[in-house]
Amino acid sequence: MDTDFKTTNKFIINLVSALVYYREFLIINILFAVIIFLFRDSISFLPLLIFAVIVANIIAFYFIGGKRNKELDEIKLIINNIREGKYNNEEEIKLGSGLHSIERAIKKMFRKEKSDIDNLQRLQRVRSQFLANVSHELRTPIFAIQGYIETLLNGAIHDKKVNMNFLEKANQNTISLSNLLNDLIDISMIESGEMRMSYRYFEINSLISQVFQENKKMAEDKKLILDTIPAREDLQVFGDRDKLRQVLVNLVHNAIKYTEKGKIEIIVQEEEKQAKISVKDTGIGISESYVDRIFERFFRIDKARSRSIGGTGLGLAIVKHIIEAHHSKVIVNSEAGKGSEFSFYLKK
Ligand SMILES: Nc1ncnc2c1ncn2[C@@H]1O[C@H](COP(=O)(O)OP(=O)(O)O)[C@@H](O)[C@H]1O
Ligand SMILES: [Mg+2]
Repeated sequence: MDTDFKTTNKFIINLVSALVYYREFLIINILFAVIIFLFRDSISFLPLLIFAVIVANIIAFYFIGGKRNKELDEIKLIINNIREGKYNNEEEIKLGSGLHSIERAIKKMFRKEKSDIDNLQRLQRVRSQFLANVSHELRTPIFAIQGYIETLLNGAIHDKKVNMNFLEKANQNTISLSNLLNDLIDISMIESGEMRMSYRYFEINSLISQVFQENKKMAEDKKLILDTIPAREDLQVFGDRDKLRQVLVNLVHNAIKYTEKGKIEIIVQEEEKQAKISVKDTGIGISESYVDRIFERFFRIDKARSRSIGGTGLGLAIVKHIIEAHHSKVIVNSEAGKGSEFSFYLKK
């Protein structure tokens, strides 16, 4: 009884499902009707023919409906499985014969969704890591400032041997804090796409002589020679002068910070269609295994050293972004113990 009901039910479902094909059937049947009409006099078994056409129609409807339902069920099952995360890779997605194009389309969608999710998860991890780093970096100078001020308040202020020294150190840490905040603001502008570039032609020699003037004292204080090798007079390059100044200042500061003796050179070399700008030092250098990592945010080869000289670990990340916005890239040539050269090309 129950199976009887199921069979009838399935029969009706299949017929109803086949209704999407009614247009095709209508056309065929109109054709039949025309034939029957044309030969209406010569065909004696006309009623039988009409009956046969109707029965054939119903049978065809039934099979087509059944096939369609089976295929739809298969597709529904696959979609449900994807939604419930039952597949680990696209090879597990299989549809019956005749559905290859849908199988391919679903696999493509699966791949896209998987890579989107992977990307989102990776971004999420990067974000949390970044936030953890920021908090840690902020905590270090703030704790130091707190420590010096508390010690001073607790009496050290009257101790002539340490009071100036502690104030000096607290001041150094406020400078670190302010450097960090400035770099963070830059990074966040870069992230949000708010860092607007304004490109135009400018004289590269005037930029490097400005950077030279601004940093001469810092180099002299460390007994280092800061030198420039300019290009031909009035050589123009194309870029955002102000952002490129920031790049050069960062590179020159690094060169000064990571060099104990010798010299730092800012060099411009003219080539056929571009100009190569380099900052070269005779400092501690970078071993090969670190060369790719120094552009990561907060990455420093020697954390304690960088921090003690006011580094934030964000400088090269900002440099990389600005240079890439100029459709160029930063090239590092360095040997541990010998020195480093950071260079990039600009259109002229
Ligand atoms: N000229 C250089 N010589 C040696 N090491 C360098 C030089 N420039 C950068 N580095 C290394 O790359 C790291 C990242 O640089 P950067 O992003 O500017 O951060 P920081 O604030 O530490 O200077 C530095 O901590 C240092 O270890
Ligand atoms: Mg730096």
